[in-house]
Amino acid sequence: MLTDQFNRVHNYLRISLTDKCNLRCAYCNPVDLPRGYFKGSARMTAGEIEQIVAVFVTQGVKKIRLTGGEPLVRKDAGEIIQRISKYPVELAISTNAVLVDKYIDVFKDAGIQSVNVSLDSLTREKFFAITRRDEFNRILDNIYLLLQNKFHVKINVVVMKNVNDDELNDFIAWTKHLPVHIRFIEFMPFAGNDWSREKVFSYQEMLAVIATQYKFLKLQDAKHDTDKKYLVPGYEGTFAVISTMSQPFCSGCNRMRLTTDGKMKNCLFSKTEVDILGALRSGVDIAPLIQQCVWDKEKALGGQFTPYDENFDASSISNRRMINIGG
Ligand code: GTP
Ligand code: 5AD
Ligand code: SF4
Repeated sequence: MLTDQFNRVHNYLRISLTDKCNLRCAYCNPVDLPRGYFKGSARMTAGEIEQIVAVFVTQGVKKIRLTGGEPLVRKDAGEIIQRISKYPVELAISTNAVLVDKYIDVFKDAGIQSVNVSLDSLTREKFFAITRRDEFNRILDNIYLLLQNKFHVKINVVVMKNVNDDELNDFIAWTKHLPVHIRFIEFMPFAGNDWSREKVFSYQEMLAVIATQYKFLKLQDAKHDTDKKYLVPGYEGTFAVISTMSQPFCSGCNRMRLTTDGKMKNCLFSKTEVDILGALRSGVDIAPLIQQCVWDKEKALGGQFTPYDENFDASSISNRRMINIGG
């Protein structure tokens, strides 16, 4: 079992397959960046990912989520999904859904049941303004395709003040006849994403806007959930808020991350990383490195900031860009 100094058991691994993406969301992958930073031997191969997964499984990992960049732009994404599916873990994926139609059978064969899709606007024009790519209709078709095929679909909406905060109630209206689970996410600071406190639309502000149009009930959240879930009675879908910036949920954290270049992060905001891929390639036993990395985890937010501190300076956070972490 992978336990840290605060008695948190870690059994959920998020693996970034690539830091390339076919969209250019300003908060994650601004246009000025190169298309994928880690290339060739700097990245874990499919075989190395499987070897590392095998060790994490012996250490008690029960859930693996594949992330990016956009995981499905990696040419051997199908092979990687198929290799990991042989292990006794719940396998899930976070995607922008542009390529989902090409992978639907791979998902089914791998026993994937739940797919998280990023979609920050319900209008084609605003979607284009946020992502700089005209993929709105294709993504919507792919969300319907996932639903027709009985996948559990969560929709991630990064809410930014004066960008898409006027669409919260439209997203909820969408759940009336559709079993999609919307998660409104507070905008988080990462290298190069021009974060400022003024751009954060908080959990409290979201609930206030939603309350102007809907009556809703609180649903029970599980111990390790990042989202606070709600139901509008009679609606097929649900909505939730991921409140990292106003109400962090680190006390229940069970997550670890592996970047596409094979570095382990014990927190989304961890300052330090452990070179698992380098160790594997040198023939070193990686299990003790993984255990130590978890043990060294900070109590909250990588020990890098306190969200309640009005004066905290996002530029002082030492971390990768979001595109190089995978969320
Ligand atoms: P499940 O709970 O397995 O459905 O995954 P998830 O919702 O955590 O994953 P997803 O990739 O869909 O991420 C949704 C949002 O949650 C993104 O903004 C992530 O950055 C954020 N997130 C995911 N894991 C963590 C975490 O451990 N801590 C914080 N603060 N945010 C997280
Ligand atoms: N703040 C909050 N969420 C973010 N994501 C990407 N960048 C940020 C950010 N700065 C989310 C995307 C994607 C998920 C993996 O991470 O919406 O769905
Ligand atoms: Fe876990 Fe770090 Fe996320 Fe907090 S910020 S929930 S400690 S990964």
